Amino acid sequence: MRLLKAFLIGLMFVLCADMVAARRMIKPSEYGSVTIRSFSHQAGLAPVRFDHWLHRSLYTCRLCHVDIGFAMEANATRITADANIKGFYCGSCHDGTRLHDKKIIFASCSVNATPEERMRCSRCHSVGKNVQKEYNYASFAEKLPKGGMEELIDWEKAEARGLIHPVDFLIGVSMQRQPLNAQKDFSITSRSTWMPDIIFSHKKHVMWNGCEVCHPDIFPSVKKGVVKYSMLQIANGQYCGLCHDRVAFPLNECDKCHANPVQ
Ligand code: HEC
Ligand code: HEC
Ligand code: HEC
Ligand code: HEC
Ligand code: HEC
Ligand code: HEC
Repeated sequence: MRLLKAFLIGLMFVLCADMVAARRMIKPSEYGSVTIRSFSHQAGLAPVRFDHWLHRSLYTCRLCHVDIGFAMEANATRITADANIKGFYCGSCHDGTRLHDKKIIFASCSVNATPEERMRCSRCHSVGKNVQKEYNYASFAEKLPKGGMEELIDWEKAEARGLIHPVDFLIGVSMQRQPLNAQKDFSITSRSTWMPDIIFSHKKHVMWNGCEVCHPDIFPSVKKGVVKYSMLQIANGQYCGLCHDRVAFPLNECDKCHANPVQ
């Protein structure tokens, strides 16, 4: 019996670790970068590269994924030049008038761009092009704490140490809201008796996500335990895996979730 249990533990562990390792290892500067390519090519422009590392250091996930309304899936928003010009999506900030840190944020798309304006296009329409950008990952990440085997930025620590201050409100876009009280931290009891329980912190997630990012879309039932999910589903990009492995810390950092180290 003990032998069988040990065997099953080994098997599940290897299976999960394998699923997780299936994600292609990528450079830290590529982690969380999204290629948006639904319409650019039709207009003879390069696809757009969007970097989470830069934007999430400035704004919360909630601001973009709830207030502005970007889908949490590459290309699912169907962003058009027209929508950007009207001040939606990228154009909510990149409108050529809004300020960040007392500096005007460069505008997004335009029709009939003058040759000087064209320089601006390639800051976003940059995939496959060798463009000089203002923000560089290496010098940006230098000052921030890192962790895990891929030496990615440890955002939790960076925020806790006051090294970044993501903004959660955009004048003219966000609505003034009463903050909801975050639920107490809880542990998700592993269905298997042998895996260490998962500690899930509402407080720490709410800082970045508010409530609406997760409820009801990702976790429809707010009653703990009603919906069952497994590590394989997570490794497949569902539930926790929707963010972890894409933008939030990756799944290979097992012991960040399985609070007691996985042996
Ligand atoms: C400045 C706005 C902005 C912020 C801040 C932001 N995102 Fe995103 N996110 C986007 C955009 C834009 C996309 C691409 C949407 C599209 O292509 O339709 C995206 C896509 C994603 C995806 C899908 C990625 C993929 O490869 O399919 C995930 C997951 C995600 N975001 C999670 C997060 C999390 C978690 C945070 C906070 C830590 C965050 N985002 C912060 C704008 C933002
Ligand atoms: C919530 C506000 C906000 C939204 C939404 C937003 N950005 Fe940004 N973005 C910024 C700010 C602020 C900067 C820094 C600008 C500066 O210093 O000039 C920036 C910088 C950038 C840069 C860096 C350019 C460089 O030269 O290094 C790119 C590229 C970029 N954004 C693309 C996008 C794209 C593409 C979208 C939409 C899919 C988008 N952004 C949506 C606020 C935003
Ligand atoms: C802040 C980022 C940003 C900048 C700067 C930007 N664009 Fe875009 N643009 C986008 C995004 C995102 C899309 C959607 C890309 C896709 O789905 O292929 C897009 C799509 C387009 C399209 C596709 C066709 C359509 O009607 O939607 C055109 C044309 C376009 N942009 C023109 C321009 C021109 C011209 C410039 C320079 C004057 C420019 N853009 C600068 C973000 C930007
Ligand atoms: C990162 C995702 C995430 C965010 C953000 C989030 N939740 Fe949850 N919430 C969960 C998960 C996961 C559960 C457990 C449900 C499950 O396992 O299906 C849960 C459960 C709950 C429960 C039920 C608790 C219980 O004991 O049964 C309540 C109530 C709740 N959330 C409210 C909130 C509120 C209010 C906010 C914002 C202040 C919020 N949540 C933000 C993921 C999130
Ligand atoms: C909507 C996106 C999203 C979903 C869904 C999500 N997380 Fe997170 N989580 C984040 C972000 C953003 C952080 C901040 C750290 C980072 O980006 O690496 C974080 C941080 C954490 C941390 C570190 C907090 C600490 O204590 O230091 C743990 C543990 C964690 N998540 C577990 C989970 C578990 C378990 C689930 C599923 C039940 C889950 N997360 C679902 C976005 C998400
Ligand atoms: C983002 C958080 C997170 C990370 C990182 C994570 N897990 Fe999990 N894991 C979970 C959650 C949530 C469950 C589901 C708990 C339940 O209901 O049984 C789970 C369940 C499991 C189970 C139980 C079997 C099953 O399918 O439910 C195993 C085995 C497991 N994880 C192994 C791993 C290994 C190995 C790693 C590292 C390679 C890892 N996990 C990383 C959150 C995480």
